[in-house]
Amino acid sequence: MLRGVSVPMADRPMARAYIAIPRDVIAADTVTGADLYIYVGGRYLLYRSGREAVDSRSLAKLRRRSIQMLYIKATDRPALDAYLARMLELRLADAASLEDAGAILRDTVRASLRLAFQTFDDGHAIQRVREASEATVRQIVEDTQIVPHLVRFAVGDERLYVHSMNTAAYAIALAARREEITTGELRSIGIGALAHDIGLATADVRLLSRDESALTESEHAYLVKHPERGLGVLEEAEMDDPLVLEIVADHHSNAIDLPLHVQIVQLADSFDTLTNRPGRIDSGAYRALYTLRESIEGRYEHDLLRDFVLMLGSLELEDEATLTPLHPPLEGAKPAFRAPHVA
Ligand SMILES: [Fe+2]
Ligand SMILES: [Fe+2]
Repeated sequence: MLRGVSVPMADRPMARAYIAIPRDVIAADTVTGADLYIYVGGRYLLYRSGREAVDSRSLAKLRRRSIQMLYIKATDRPALDAYLARMLELRLADAASLEDAGAILRDTVRASLRLAFQTFDDGHAIQRVREASEATVRQIVEDTQIVPHLVRFAVGDERLYVHSMNTAAYAIALAARREEITTGELRSIGIGALAHDIGLATADVRLLSRDESALTESEHAYLVKHPERGLGVLEEAEMDDPLVLEIVADHHSNAIDLPLHVQIVQLADSFDTLTNRPGRIDSGAYRALYTLRESIEGRYEHDLLRDFVLMLGSLELEDEATLTPLHPPLEGAKPAFRAPHVA
């Protein structure tokens, strides 16, 4: 944490005692094992005991009341982790289409990241990110066409998690094309990509979406140090995978001798940042690739950008619905992501 600098922090009442979970991760008629609370009038009220199932009518009622988040006690976290892992496997096995599988994976990983970013200093958080990475690697290796269903436009307080998921999807799909990358390394790349911006976890979301030119000097200094802070967070949580640590520490480095796994995540991270950010929405995929080519000239493995372009070009992105931002922030905004049909 930066001393002596006042930086707006996210408003998270009693973040340590209670953990927020998106309502949508609770499946109807399932038992979570963790007591569920709602936050009303400044208090946490018991909504459902962990031994009771939440039926679809109750979930619909929450939706009608626009209650997006439920809460659990931090001590109930292992039970919720086990529930999420169980549900992910069940739902993926049941998915009727690639689109369904993509939506399930995307929403579950986002929920896992939200939990992990809130309390990254315990072992459960790392375990959740590891499981999220494994499930993502498995699905992408099985069929790269799931990538467009994983990538979404990132806005609001979900921005950081959506961006992390997008970065992981691109990075894993790119890494899977490289013969020199082993399956174990693929998993590490997934974890590194999901956690690469963990150092931003405590920053206010308004700070993250502000244009760089509108930042004060202290805000800028705070943001610029996020790789360093992220590395500290991971080390504190006893993460000892050197690939993950290098990815988090060096994902903004301009050094010329970066290892391949760092280059892969940098490429995925930059591409998503260029194509998927409020205020930069006019920067389509072609323009982003052009910008990337300029910035990595002479620094990256010479065929990495070509592989990235081929990977993007191989995705079947005909379905406009998957290309349209969920909440376009600008009038007449174009889809955040377009496939460059480059041979
Ligand atoms: Fe970053
Ligand atoms: Fe990033």
